[in-house]
Amino acid sequence: MSRSTEFIPFARPSVGEAEEAAVLRVLRSGWLTTAHEAERFEQEFASYCDVPHTRTLAVSSATAALHLALEALGVCSGRRVAVSPYTFAASAEVVRYLGADPVFVDIEPNGFNIDPAQLLETLERENQAGRRIHTIMPVHIGGYPCRVAELRRAAERYGAAVVEDAAHSFPAREPAGAQNQAAAVLGTGSDAGAFSFYATKTITTGEGGMLVFKSESAAERARIMRLHGIDRPVWDRHHGRAARHEYEVVAPGYKYNLPDILAAIGRAQLRRAEEFARRRAAIAAYYLERLADLDQVQLPPSDLPQSWHLFILRLDRARISVDRDTVIAALSEEGVGTSVHYKPLHLMPYYRDRYGLSPRDFPVSWETYRCCLSLPIYPALSDAEVERVVEAVRSVCRRYARA
Ligand SMILES: Cc1ncc(COP(=O)(O)O)c(C=O)c1O
Repeated sequence: MSRSTEFIPFARPSVGEAEEAAVLRVLRSGWLTTAHEAERFEQEFASYCDVPHTRTLAVSSATAALHLALEALGVCSGRRVAVSPYTFAASAEVVRYLGADPVFVDIEPNGFNIDPAQLLETLERENQAGRRIHTIMPVHIGGYPCRVAELRRAAERYGAAVVEDAAHSFPAREPAGAQNQAAAVLGTGSDAGAFSFYATKTITTGEGGMLVFKSESAAERARIMRLHGIDRPVWDRHHGRAARHEYEVVAPGYKYNLPDILAAIGRAQLRRAEEFARRRAAIAAYYLERLADLDQVQLPPSDLPQSWHLFILRLDRARISVDRDTVIAALSEEGVGTSVHYKPLHLMPYYRDRYGLSPRDFPVSWETYRCCLSLPIYPALSDAEVERVVEAVRSVCRRYARA
């Protein structure tokens, strides 16, 4: 198969010599689990995001980060967390881990994120019914930012905490290039933000995450819960003359530490974050320019600070004669891998059955799901591949254009 017809996967990580050298360094160090590399990764991430490193915790995934954040902020059995159904399983499952209940709130029309107006209505309705919402969890889908300031005001009015699911948001820039997402998380007064380093994310450790808190005491609780509820860092308990074997277990914690092998990959990736962000933004700019004249698709907003983790196309169902899955199959035939973000949680059997939900309960999420697909966007895409994606989208739109 010639290079020009090779299948373009939806995602492909950018890992090379720097990451290989980092892993080798740790493998040869005699220490494989969590210690200095993880600590340095935390410090470097905190410094990159301009947040205190004492409130920045490297963890095994963003799912772990969200779980720890909710636990540290007091979410427990019987409490309620507002989240949109238009998200990945992780955002709501962590609520259930704690025996609490997600309260779904639909997304904004023409957007992907929780609708602040509907959130306000939900907060008021639940309050009237004596079922206070304890925490709200805005999810920045694809890195497109939620209206955090508005959400924060609503949360303050009803005494709710805010935990941002920023799994897709590193590093989201203001249009002026000033601020990134972690700074935004805390700058707007949110209580915590969770970032993902999963294999397809903007920087990756294979699996991994980072948790940033506003309060030192919540960070301290999460630090203890991150490693079995043990009251002190114990990574040195087998090493050096000063090693102490004793520790106390003060809570039934979790095993959510990020091992040094992965942290070393993260440090190497962090050094390339600027280069990656520039390449993603350049690909997005190219798609925005070359697909702008197509009537069959609506393009994502270009005027917001964002990470360009995803480039989501919305099909205009009045102007295209086939459904989203037929478009996906046609793009695949043209050699272009795509994905769908996301099948809303209220359609999933667990949430549907547990909470008695039907598709029309959250109509915007449902309709958005039915007409959206995500194009490949990652630094390892060559210019020729980007052009092939554009040509494939143009060709499929032409083929199925409604007369
Ligand atoms: C919106 C969202 N939140 C949370 C997560 C969980 O991230 P992780 O895989 O690092 O646990 C993901 C993962 O893709 C996600 O897409």
